[in-house]
Amino acid sequence: MPAHLDALAEATDRGFHDAFGRDCAGVWSAPGRVNLIGEHTDYNEGFVLPFAIGARTSIAARRRDDGVIALASAQFPGKIRTIPLAKVGPRAVPGWAAYPAGVAWALGLAGRGAAAAGASGVSLYINSVVPTGSGLSSSAALECAVALALHDLHGLQATRAELALACQRAENEVVGAPTGIMDQFASLFGEHGSAVFIDCRTVHGENVPLALEAAGLEVVLADTREQHAHAAGGYVDRRASCDRAARILGVRALRDVGVGDLEKASDVLDAETFRRVRHVVTENERVLAAVASLRAGGLESDPAVLGALLTASHASMRDDFEITTPALDLAAATAVEAGAVGARMTGGGFGGAVIALVARERAAEVAASITAAFARAGFTAPRLSTVAPSDGARRDR
Ligand code: GLA
Repeated sequence: MPAHLDALAEATDRGFHDAFGRDCAGVWSAPGRVNLIGEHTDYNEGFVLPFAIGARTSIAARRRDDGVIALASAQFPGKIRTIPLAKVGPRAVPGWAAYPAGVAWALGLAGRGAAAAGASGVSLYINSVVPTGSGLSSSAALECAVALALHDLHGLQATRAELALACQRAENEVVGAPTGIMDQFASLFGEHGSAVFIDCRTVHGENVPLALEAAGLEVVLADTREQHAHAAGGYVDRRASCDRAARILGVRALRDVGVGDLEKASDVLDAETFRRVRHVVTENERVLAAVASLRAGGLESDPAVLGALLTASHASMRDDFEITTPALDLAAATAVEAGAVGARMTGGGFGGAVIALVARERAAEVAASITAAFARAGFTAPRLSTVAPSDGARRDR
């Protein structure tokens, strides 16, 4: 394990002891993710291509037998929140505790017997370095780390796909955010050096090589620091438009609409709904093209192919799906002007971060250009870093 991750696990272990006055039974962690391409396609039963990043949420845990989930966090020192598991249910837990409590609920309710997570209780100490509200899926990192900890502590025998679905259910029902399956799959199935290609209809994930280093490339991340939340507002609204469009078009999901069907769709949909549909349909095509290019070794031989797909994806999110902001648009455009191979917003939108695929020797220049452009525009200074495909959720000690 890299030294900084070992240090995170060590700090989490110690934090548990300080908070609860006894040793934990183990430490688990799960990563955040960026989405390389395939935005707002997951809940339309389409395709996505995210990868797990190095930033992780670490959890120290120990079973308890009083039917309570007890939560302490490095982010809120000195506080322990206790919630009777019997009281956890749809929208019943306010604040961030809804994520871990929701996972316990989803696993307990999944019919795994009275001894399952829900019945017996657990103490959790949470220590996260995944920024929240930046489009990096801090929520999935938290859910997946908790799910794996509960799974191991309670001998649940669930597959990783089942854990991912339980985490999604926690987020949909207990938190109340109608999100898809991408983030949890990326966090549980991530692998060093690979992206995770997910068919969100069959819920099948497959690792696709993303050997950035060998190709002399980096993924620069520009976090605009515009916060967003998906339990309300634009995300919910976009999802509703897609569902309505599928009903009007007479298909189970927008996955079933092809590029060749778009002309007909424009006859029956209002202009705005048609643009939403066009984004989803063309985005699915772009994901498949990106996967084909990566599988054919395109990252090394012709990275411009992937780069152009990223940039086209951003334009589609800006013009058709309308989920970008002026800061996100500026970051993506500046990256490309400064020499990035391609750039796009990543995540649910309405804030968050942009990723840019950049030749290694240009990465610093691209990052500096974005910072300068934000200063000129009077935007909050962005947070610049690089991200690379990393390992998924695991037990650390
Ligand atoms: C959020 C959701 C995902 C997905 C993306 C948009 O990250 O959690 O399920 O819908 O937005 O692609």
